[in-house]
Amino acid sequence: MNENVEKDVLILAIESSCDETAAAVVKNGRTVLSNIIYSQIALHTLYGGVVPEIASRKHIEKINQVIEAALSEAGVTLKEIDGVAVTYGPGLVGALLVGVAEAKAIAYAAKKPLIGVHHIEGHIAANFIENPELEPPFLALVVSGGHTHFVRVEDYGRFDIIGRTRDDAAGEAFDKVARAIGLGYPGGPKIDKTAKEGNPEAVSFPRAHVEEAPYDFSFSGVKSSVLNYINGCRMKGEEYSQADIAASFQKAVTDVLVEKAMHAVEEYHADKFAIAGGVASNSALRAAMQEACERRGIKLYYPSPVYCTDNAAMIGAAAYYEYKNGTRHGWDLNAVPNLKLGERYKGAV
Ligand code: KG4
Ligand code: ZN
Repeated sequence: MNENVEKDVLILAIESSCDETAAAVVKNGRTVLSNIIYSQIALHTLYGGVVPEIASRKHIEKINQVIEAALSEAGVTLKEIDGVAVTYGPGLVGALLVGVAEAKAIAYAAKKPLIGVHHIEGHIAANFIENPELEPPFLALVVSGGHTHFVRVEDYGRFDIIGRTRDDAAGEAFDKVARAIGLGYPGGPKIDKTAKEGNPEAVSFPRAHVEEAPYDFSFSGVKSSVLNYINGCRMKGEEYSQADIAASFQKAVTDVLVEKAMHAVEEYHADKFAIAGGVASNSALRAAMQEACERRGIKLYYPSPVYCTDNAAMIGAAAYYEYKNGTRHGWDLNAVPNLKLGERYKGAV
């Protein structure tokens, strides 16, 4: 056997930080052998948002099935796995704990290394799955339901956060506005669809900028502005168009994201830009980013929608590089609900 040929690394990855119970088997950080997602969305829709206690209970109910399905679809046994990876933060503590406890139990029983992964690191790594040529350094914008981060990916597992939201996350703003205009939960995909029928110039919502922090965001102003607009219409007894509001709100958010992204691209002389997280599947954001990047001769990366929203394949992709860097966690690994990107595990909190 040629000793220069590196052995394949198979990671079993688990993700349970919010309302998706997910497991995947990923080869060498880039090839997804299976990606099983049990979405709890229908369950939480009844309440208009994620109910943490219900999420944890459902994770407990589904996690074994989801892991078994991931292994069987990949056609591998636990014996053939090189490491067990799990999201240990940030996220809902009760939800994270289910995945962490499960991963520890499997890793211990199967005598495999345990690799705790940061959820945002996973979202960024989702871009590696379908883009074999993508390697750090690059700039990334992570826009999800819980996070809005501008990140310089300096190397695998090495990040420099250059900006973040001061209040609501981008996806949170989509969800709140969707609820206000009667589209329901989850708001992002519904606004995306409804906006296609509307006029993005119909209502002028504010483009928020944060003084002296060019890469920070604030989405609570645009959300309040939508609420004020609706209340104004109601008081005057005027009808408003759901589609026009959806399109105008979406334009206000994407304008800010694209403008800041291009500002960063210029300042950091980036030639690659990646978007990640649930909101990265927004069709208007993708189109606007694509156009802006093409104009500057920059390559834009984004994952397929299934790898944008929460999944375990992205955790397996990130875990591969952590594994290669020597990251191994002990049986004391605990959920860290407010884990910072790039932070090393400091023990139970
Ligand atoms: O990444 P994700 O699954 O979970 C978190 O880590 O938070 O992101 C979920 C968020 C939700 O707020 C959802 O409304 C938003 O992503 N989202 C979208 C779209 N699809 C999902 N927002 C805008 N347009 C979409 N097509
Ligand atoms: Zn997420």
